[in-house]
Amino acid sequence: MWVLAHRGASKAAPENTLKAFRLAIEKGATGIEFDTYQLGEQIVVFHDRWLDRTTNGHGLITAQSFEALRQLDAGDGEVIPTLAETLALMPANALCNIEIKHLTDAAGWLKTLDLAMAASSLDYSKLILSSFNHTWLRQLKNLRPELQVGALTATYPENGAEFATHLSAYSLHMDLDVIDQHYVTQAQQAGLKVLVYTVDQKEDLLLMADWGVDGVFTNVPELAKQVLAERVE
Ligand code: G3P
Ligand code: MG
Repeated sequence: MWVLAHRGASKAAPENTLKAFRLAIEKGATGIEFDTYQLGEQIVVFHDRWLDRTTNGHGLITAQSFEALRQLDAGDGEVIPTLAETLALMPANALCNIEIKHLTDAAGWLKTLDLAMAASSLDYSKLILSSFNHTWLRQLKNLRPELQVGALTATYPENGAEFATHLSAYSLHMDLDVIDQHYVTQAQQAGLKVLVYTVDQKEDLLLMADWGVDGVFTNVPELAKQVLAERVE
């Protein structure tokens, strides 16, 4: 089961910072999940619409210039990272789930991604582009069909995984709070990888392993690695 560090190792370090990503890899995570905003020609790594919860800044992230954002403290003196800085940090075997919170121009987004990839040691097969906004995923997929997209959902739709297969998605990213084993199996039988968020408790980690999900998003990758290592098959 893949262990994807949710916003990096975000219990031990400030979420969505290079410190959290570095720590995730040190702790043996399969890879990382992080959230992104497209701001002009830049893609920055950030979760909220508002700056206030996780930085010393105020107001909407989209109302700030890139230069102003980079002056902010995102915790422990860390700056808000760019996509390029984040990918450049990752070893070639790390899986990177780029969650898209804000996209204004799909072609421009891909251009920024390509520049970031060129400066990293990653192959495109190590990327999963996910979003709750499936229209954005469709736009990216139309422009670049070979990219792996992950359909995010916080619901248990009546038609199972159909919306994800319709998108030609690589994976389905589901909320632990609403799913059951039947839904997971149904999605896997439809050819999708199933990744579940956010799994931080030992019992839940073991349950996901029992269900046979392909991966979990967790704020505590060190705990997940330990629980899986100790698990008796
Ligand atoms: O990608 C899984 C999970 O991160 C989705 O929710 O709000 O943590 O980005 P959120
Ligand atoms: Mg996320």
